[in-house]
Amino acid sequence: MEFMLDSVNLDEIKRAKSLGLLDGLTTNPLIIQRGLREMKYEGSLEDHLKRVFELLERRPVFLQVASRSREGIVMQAKKMYDLFRDFGNPHIKVPIDTRRESEEDYSGYEAIMSLAKEGIPILATAIVTPHQAFLAARAGAKYSVLMLRPFDDHVASTLQMNELGREGFLGSGEVADKLREGKKKLNDYLSAQETLRITGEIFSLNGLETKLMVAGIRSPIQVSDVLRTNGVSVMTLPYTVLSSMFPHPSTSKFVDNTYGAAEEVYAGFLENVN
Ligand code: E4P
Repeated sequence: MEFMLDSVNLDEIKRAKSLGLLDGLTTNPLIIQRGLREMKYEGSLEDHLKRVFELLERRPVFLQVASRSREGIVMQAKKMYDLFRDFGNPHIKVPIDTRRESEEDYSGYEAIMSLAKEGIPILATAIVTPHQAFLAARAGAKYSVLMLRPFDDHVASTLQMNELGREGFLGSGEVADKLREGKKKLNDYLSAQETLRITGEIFSLNGLETKLMVAGIRSPIQVSDVLRTNGVSVMTLPYTVLSSMFPHPSTSKFVDNTYGAAEEVYAGFLENVN
């Protein structure tokens, strides 16, 4: 399993790199906005991204396009790719579907097909269902990214469930209970957890070349869930989730207790090194 960091904050990137947990870097315009604000950076985005590419060395850095039309996406993708290819390993993120609500328009999908044919490494993004992830693979994307939290947010708001908070996520059982209790129907998957399992199965059963990446992870429990899912090759994590994988209250308690006893039992041969 490869670990990517979802951030443009240089301190976070350096920390993940020094821990040996940085196989690549994912961004989108919101992540860039947040990262630059946190750093109080006021210089040019281009300069900042060049610094990011240098830090990542040859690891992939993912940048998202911002056009909805096929021509616009292709133009922006090529421009970003050419601008940064001398500084590292740019990969371009294209939403699988860029239409607003119902108009018939396959621009996102068509742009992925045409860019992939030209050899530009594409990650298909904004994917929340197994079939969208499969379509991205058919279009020739190098990566397909399944986003967990946006799907849980959709289910929670459709069923008027409680806010999920910073770390919350839905289990399919809990959604099924809610449906039974309210005698409601949901013509959709039950939870992000369920879409993850089904998508992983599809990728592994079909032996797809496209790598399945998982994003929108909000808690260390979800990290374990992703780690045990067949068919997933990459996950991308916000720094807060990456760092929350290390501690646990039981770990702290055990360490406190044993270190407490060590003060007495090791006193004869170990210096106090705090
Ligand atoms: C990935 O492609 C997404 O842009 C990203 O992981 C979304 O992150 P968020 O759900 O943590 O905002």
